[in-house]
Amino acid sequence: MSKVDVWIPNLQCPDCQGQIQASEDREDELFCTRCKRTFMRSEGMWNLLPTNVANMAIKEREREGWKKKQQLRHDLPPKYYLSLPDVDHPYYQAAARYLRIVIECGKPWTEKKVLELGAAECWATRHFAQAGAEAAALEYSDDENRFGKAQVLLDNLPISFFRILGDGECLPFGPNVFDRIFCCSVLHHFSDLAQAIKEIARTLKPGGLFFGIHEAFHPPYYSKKRALKMHPDTMPSIDAGINECSFPASYYRKLFRKACMEFDLISPHWDVRYQGNSMIVRPGAALYDDPNYALTTLGKGQTQASLTGFLARMLLLSGLWRVFVNPNVFPLFRFHLLNWTVRSKIIVARKPV
Ligand SMILES: C[S@@+](CC[C@H](N)C(=O)[O-])C[C@H]1O[C@@H](n2cnc3c(N)ncnc32)[C@H](O)[C@@H]1O
Ligand SMILES: [Zn+2]
Repeated sequence: MSKVDVWIPNLQCPDCQGQIQASEDREDELFCTRCKRTFMRSEGMWNLLPTNVANMAIKEREREGWKKKQQLRHDLPPKYYLSLPDVDHPYYQAAARYLRIVIECGKPWTEKKVLELGAAECWATRHFAQAGAEAAALEYSDDENRFGKAQVLLDNLPISFFRILGDGECLPFGPNVFDRIFCCSVLHHFSDLAQAIKEIARTLKPGGLFFGIHEAFHPPYYSKKRALKMHPDTMPSIDAGINECSFPASYYRKLFRKACMEFDLISPHWDVRYQGNSMIVRPGAALYDDPNYALTTLGKGQTQASLTGFLARMLLLSGLWRVFVNPNVFPLFRFHLLNWTVRSKIIVARKPV
């Protein structure tokens, strides 16, 4: 069966929610059995965008913004796309680590239906496919230097995945399709985040998991201006038309809960422990099992000649930190520590069974 055949029973018309079927005489054409709209494939991408895209002006401005940014990188060799995310860049270095955590946490992947939202070059989709998943990648922009470059992966690796041009706020899939939905730095680009989360909740199977890495968070007491200054790339991206937003973790939690999903955060610092080559992902795994954890973390503050440094030294000397990292105490304030500080975090949300 070709990739599209596997997915046809799960597709849904983005205009009328009708069933989609393959055209009898054209292999690069699908049609809606209700409104009769046809959907074409071009350069390996199936166009399943809604006829009337909501908030189109914002999305088109963002699309143009990415295009302009990406034009500067149009001549990268295939080796670059094949190496992603293992390249020498802080964004990808962190993403590679987070992806490893997600792959560990979301196991098993074999034959699981996985969707990547805002997939761009599809570097993450590639890793889900390699882990044995039946993977699909959805992206709003058909940029030849981004979504188009996913072809390099399909041409050079023994994997396949389904590529869709679509809108994450109006997914062209029926309900309860995916075991896992993933995105990297995408939620905070949606023009209607609440609607995108509703779509995630609708298309996940009961018990299915959503993972979001590299999302933009800021503590609740930050002003919008301060939040947008947290990363030096944010303002230039906004000037280029890219829809950069940032939210407190509690806001993401509110929207996921509104969509009837259970919300949690993985802190790469607290919840991940390495044992030789293997990785353990469990709430507090690093804190409870690594006796040096608090020493190394507080040790950083200890060198500061500030109130934080003073408090860090006091905490270390008194041994009081042991009370805070006690498994009976730490879960009580863990979410708030993650919400009110700038610690990195991965969103993991589950659709209840
Ligand atoms: C910051 S980029 C991240 C790309 C990729 N995930 C990565 O980490 O390299 C955000 C991506 O989300 C896509 N995007 C934004 N709004 C979208 C929407 N409504 N539906 C689908 N994709 C969207 C953009 O086109 C862009 O490729
Ligand atoms: Zn239709």
